[in-house]
Amino acid sequence: MKILGIESSCDETAASIVEDGYKMISNVVATSMHEHAKYGGIVPEIAARSHIESIIPVIDESMEQANINWSQLDGIAVTYGAGLGGSLLVGVETAKTLAIAKNLPLYKINHVEGHVYANFITHSNLDGYNLPEEQPKFPILALIVSGGHSQLVFFEDHFKYKLLGQTTDDAVGEAFDKVAKLLGLPYPGGPNIEIAATNGDPDKYKLPKAQLTNKYDFSFSGPKTAVLRLVQAEVGKSFDFPSFKLAELLNERQKADIAASFLRTSIETLVDKTVMAEKEYNPKTIVIAGGVAANSELRKQLTYRLHTKIQYPDIKLCTDNGAMIAALGCFKAMKKTTPDDPYKLQINPNLSM
Ligand code: KG4
Ligand code: ZN
Repeated sequence: MKILGIESSCDETAASIVEDGYKMISNVVATSMHEHAKYGGIVPEIAARSHIESIIPVIDESMEQANINWSQLDGIAVTYGAGLGGSLLVGVETAKTLAIAKNLPLYKINHVEGHVYANFITHSNLDGYNLPEEQPKFPILALIVSGGHSQLVFFEDHFKYKLLGQTTDDAVGEAFDKVAKLLGLPYPGGPNIEIAATNGDPDKYKLPKAQLTNKYDFSFSGPKTAVLRLVQAEVGKSFDFPSFKLAELLNERQKADIAASFLRTSIETLVDKTVMAEKEYNPKTIVIAGGVAANSELRKQLTYRLHTKIQYPDIKLCTDNGAMIAALGCFKAMKKTTPDDPYKLQINPNLSM
């Protein structure tokens, strides 16, 4: 069972072929991240245009890397939501056209659910991947944390899941990106906050943790605004001073301490809720997915506080990729899910779990 996975929900144009839901035989990712860096965040129009330029070369390369032809494929899986409308359209229209032209079954994939399936890839003939030894065992508790999502999901089985909680405002990665911008650190914020925080004191500033009605929901907008107020107070400027000029007035010590305090608070929030869900739901495996899963403080705290086996995908499979989409597509095909109609499939930018 060989499935081509296509992913274009944000700024990565990605295609990969996965066999039987565990073996990655190709994986190609083109990103327009460098084009967004100077704006401090993703510009949707730039991302969509870049997908148009990259999608066919990326798919061609994934076929070449796998050394197969179209007649050897068993289906096409594509992310249809959630994500940026213009970006999703490019992947979905390409997948629909290929499914019709090559007469292949088409499977629509929920991007967030896809992130979890990066953990099912245990084998590859490609170099440079550090893959888990075995697939996660159900029931699975999944923490999905990236620039677009912060979700805690409990999977009883394939396709049978319950959303325990999610962010009520900013995703955690988005909050990292915004705080980094405020501190004058480059985009993407997560890795740069992590670097800045290594020289800082995480106890220097006390930042608030949101109390929400659903105990598994997250909120990162409060701590982000608290950082803004803290920076204004540190440099002695009021709220009407332009926020993009604040960073120039901070010294390196202040930046490091604020980065470390924000990192500590936001990671603790993620870990506290994962620990709570572990106690209530008793999973066999806990999987972490999404770009923020690369964070070493998150990995350290989770390892220390959880009792269940934790799995992380290779860093290259934590961020958006086609392999996670192809892996979930394999399970849909292997479990005989009805394919989607390529003449009818529509994008769903606000798709939830
Ligand atoms: O999964 P991803 O590539 O794209 C989305 O679907 O959003 O995640 C990107 C996000 C960015 O917000 C970035 O700042 C964050 O992941 N990120 C990190 C780290 N590496 C990437 N956040 C914290 N620590 C990191 N080491
Ligand atoms: Zn993602």
